[in-house]
Amino acid sequence: MNTRKILVTSALPYANGPIHLGHLVEYIQTDIWVRFQKMRGHECHYVCADDTHGTPIMLRADREGISPEQLIAQVEQEHRADFTDFGVAFDHYHSTHSDENRQLSSQIYLNLRDAGHISSRSITQAYDPVKNMFLPDRFIKGDCPKCGATDQYGDNCEVCGATYSPMELKNAVSAISGEKPVEKQSVHYFFELGHFSAMLNDWIRAGHLQPEVANKMAEWLQNGLQAWDISRDAPYFGFEIPDAPGKYFYVWLDAPIGYMASFKALCEQRGLDFDAYWQTDSQTELYHFIGKDIIYFHALFWPAMLHGARLRTPSAIFAHGFLTVNGEKMSKSRGTFIKARTYLDHLNPEYLRYYFAAKLGSGVDDIDLNFEDFTLRVNADLVGKVVNIASRCSGFISKRFDGLLSGECAEPGLFQQFVDAHATLAELYENREFGKAMREIMALADKANLYIDDKKPWTIAKADGKDVELQQVCSVGIDLFRLLVSYLKPVLPTLAANAEQFLNIESQAWPNQAQPLLSHRINTYMPLMTRVEPEKINAIIEASKQNLQKTPPAPVKRSHPIATAIEIDDFAKIDLRIGKILKAESVEGADKLLHLTVDIGDESRSIFAGIKSAYTPDELVGKLTLVVANLKPKKMRFGLSEGMVLAAGPGGKDIWLMSPDSGAQPGMRVK
Ligand code: 2FM
Ligand code: ZN
Repeated sequence: MNTRKILVTSALPYANGPIHLGHLVEYIQTDIWVRFQKMRGHECHYVCADDTHGTPIMLRADREGISPEQLIAQVEQEHRADFTDFGVAFDHYHSTHSDENRQLSSQIYLNLRDAGHISSRSITQAYDPVKNMFLPDRFIKGDCPKCGATDQYGDNCEVCGATYSPMELKNAVSAISGEKPVEKQSVHYFFELGHFSAMLNDWIRAGHLQPEVANKMAEWLQNGLQAWDISRDAPYFGFEIPDAPGKYFYVWLDAPIGYMASFKALCEQRGLDFDAYWQTDSQTELYHFIGKDIIYFHALFWPAMLHGARLRTPSAIFAHGFLTVNGEKMSKSRGTFIKARTYLDHLNPEYLRYYFAAKLGSGVDDIDLNFEDFTLRVNADLVGKVVNIASRCSGFISKRFDGLLSGECAEPGLFQQFVDAHATLAELYENREFGKAMREIMALADKANLYIDDKKPWTIAKADGKDVELQQVCSVGIDLFRLLVSYLKPVLPTLAANAEQFLNIESQAWPNQAQPLLSHRINTYMPLMTRVEPEKINAIIEASKQNLQKTPPAPVKRSHPIATAIEIDDFAKIDLRIGKILKAESVEGADKLLHLTVDIGDESRSIFAGIKSAYTPDELVGKLTLVVANLKPKKMRFGLSEGMVLAAGPGGKDIWLMSPDSGAQPGMRVK
C-alpha cells in the first residue's frame, strides 16, 4: 500500500465562546477519520487553531476590561483542554493571531494584488458616533422597514423575512452604544471573486464536493459572483493590510489561511516540507471538515484565493449537518445547549464519540442526539456487546490458565471472517460512513457473542477433562474481542488503549494482516466501560440550565444604613458623574436586573442595575441619573457591568433612581 501524505483540518472555532456539543460533531468526526488514516500507516497531519480576529472578540475583550490578546489566550486554554479531554488529537493547535498567519495572510494578499485580483473603492456604512467605529450589520438594531417588528438586527427581519440594508432600519441604534448610527464613507478592499467564475465552475464539478454541496454551489455561481469585501476599518482586532495602513483584513480572509499557518508551525516543529503540501503540483492530499453553514467560504472563496495566489486547492471539502438535541435546536432554557465541559464533568467522552460515530454519514444531514437513544445504544452496543465478550471470557483464562491463551486457534474460519471485514470497514471509514461501519462492527460483535453462547464456556468449565476446550473457546472470544477493538479504535481511543493494556499487546494497527494471538499471556481484566447512568444525563441538563439561570449575587442588605464614617479624601476617590440612560433592556434569566447603556459624557457604559422591580425599561430611557464611573468593572453571568447607577429604597416597587435636576448634562462630575 502506498503511504499517502494527508493534511486534514477542522473549522477553526471562534475565540469568543466555549466549545459545545454542536461543535464536537465536527471535531469528533474529523478525529475519527484522522485516527483511521494513521492506523492504516498513512502520514496524516491534523491541524486546527482558534479563530481569533474580528469585532465580536474585540468588543467582548473591551467589555471584560481585558485586551483581546488576554481574552484569546484564556479561551485558547479552555478550548485546548476541552479537545484533549474529548480525545480530539490535533497534531498542532495554533492561533490565527500568530506570526505564521500574519506572514502567510500578507503574502497571499500581495500575490492576489500583484495578479490583479484586488480592487478598492469607497463605500458608505453605518458608523457609531459614540464608539467611533463602523458597525457590522449584526451590531445595528431597529424596527423592520417592512413590517415594523421591533428589535431586528442587521439586514433581515426575523419576523417577516424581509431583507434590506441596515441603514433602512427604522429607529436604528447601535447595539454597542445605543446611539443612532450615522452614515460614513471609507475605502474598502475587495477580492475580485468574479475573476474565478470559470475556474470555480470546473472545480465544483470535479469531485471535490459532496454532490448536494456541488449543486448548491452551482446555483450560487449561476447568480453571479460579487467582489468580496476583505477589509475592515480600525478599530479592529486583526492584521493590518500591508499596503493600506489603518485597514485590516476581514476575519474571514485570514481564518482559512490559519489552516496553513497552523501547519506551518507543525512543519517547523517536525521538520516537514511545508511547500510540498501547498505548491500547485502537490502530490499530497488536503481535506477540510466543516459545518454546512460555512460552505460558501470554503467551496468558493477559499479555492479561488488559493488558485489566485498560485497555491494548490483542496482535495475535498467534507461538510456535515447541525446537531439537534432530543429532536430540537439546542436550547439554553431547555438545558440542551451543552458545553463540552459540562458534559465532561459528568459522562465518559467516549460514549459521545461512539454515539456520534453511530449517527454520522457522508452527507450533510443534521444529526440528533436523543438522550434515551444515546443511553440505549451505548449500553447495548459497547457495554452489552463488545466489552461483554472480554468480561465473559477473561475470568476463565485468568483463573484457570494463569492468563495464558491457547496455543492454537480453534476457529480459524471465524477468526478469518473477522479479519476479512477489514476491507469493507476501511472503505466505510474512508468514505466517512461511520454509522454503517458501527453497524458492521456490531454485527461482528453479535457473531462473537453467538459463538460464546453456543459454546457455553460456563458449562464446559464445570465438566471434567475439558480444560483444553475451555481455554480454546475463551481464547477465541478474547481474540475476536481484540479485532473488534482494533476496528473501534479510531472512535474509542481510550477504550482501545485500556484493552491493549489488558490484552498485553502493542498498540494495534489496522488489522488487515492480523494473526491469531497464540500462547500469549494477558493481564487481569478490569471493567473497560460501564453503563450510562441516566441520572448523569439529568445532571448535565440541569447544569446547562443553571448556566443560564444563575442570578448574580444579590446586593448585601445592611440592617443599619450608615456603616463607617469616611474622610473627604475617601469620598473624593469616587468618580461620581451625571449619566443619561440611552437604553434599558430586560436581561434574560434575571428577575431583578435591567441592562442599561448609560452615556457618561465621553463614553457610554454597559451597566447592570437591580431596579427591574421598580422601573420598566421604557420609563428609564432618556432619564438622567448618577453613576459611579470608576467602580472596577464587574464580570457578571450576563456580561460586564462597567459602573453603578445610584438608587435608594427598601426594594421591590420602592426603589428610587437618583436623578439630578433638569439642566444637568451627561459627564458632569459631582463635586
Ligand atoms: O464559523 C466559524 O466558527 C468560523 N470560526 C470558522 C472558520 S473556519 C476557517 F476558515 F478558518
Ligand atoms: Zn419585518
